[in-house]
Amino acid sequence: MPATSSREGFRLLGPAAEVTEGFVVPYYVAEHKRRVAVARVNGDLYAVDDLCTYEACPLSAGLLEGTTMICQCHGCRYDLTTGEVLRGPAMEGLETHAVEVIDEQIHARIAPRI
Ligand code: FES
Repeated sequence: MPATSSREGFRLLGPAAEVTEGFVVPYYVAEHKRRVAVARVNGDLYAVDDLCTYEACPLSAGLLEGTTMICQCHGCRYDLTTGEVLRGPAMEGLETHAVEVIDEQIHARIAPRI
């Protein structure tokens, strides 16, 4: 059964305390068969797809420098705030997801894959 949320279209990912400042935590959203990475930078949470668009390495296992996510495999860089590619070899950006904290729990609006 999918985790539900009080907000339309949002689903529960986990406790907000799991995502500490400067770290990225991966979540698997089973109903959408999708990995989502949630990061906290300067107190704000960001949610993007967790798999690099180049060769699908998990970005949550890479590096986070400010709002730049760096893939460990071939060094692609993405802007966490927009999903935009900052440096290739990836050409395609990451999908971003709306995220918010409700009652100390992280909720995100994850679009199904088309
Ligand atoms: S898989 Fe991400 S840079 Fe190669």
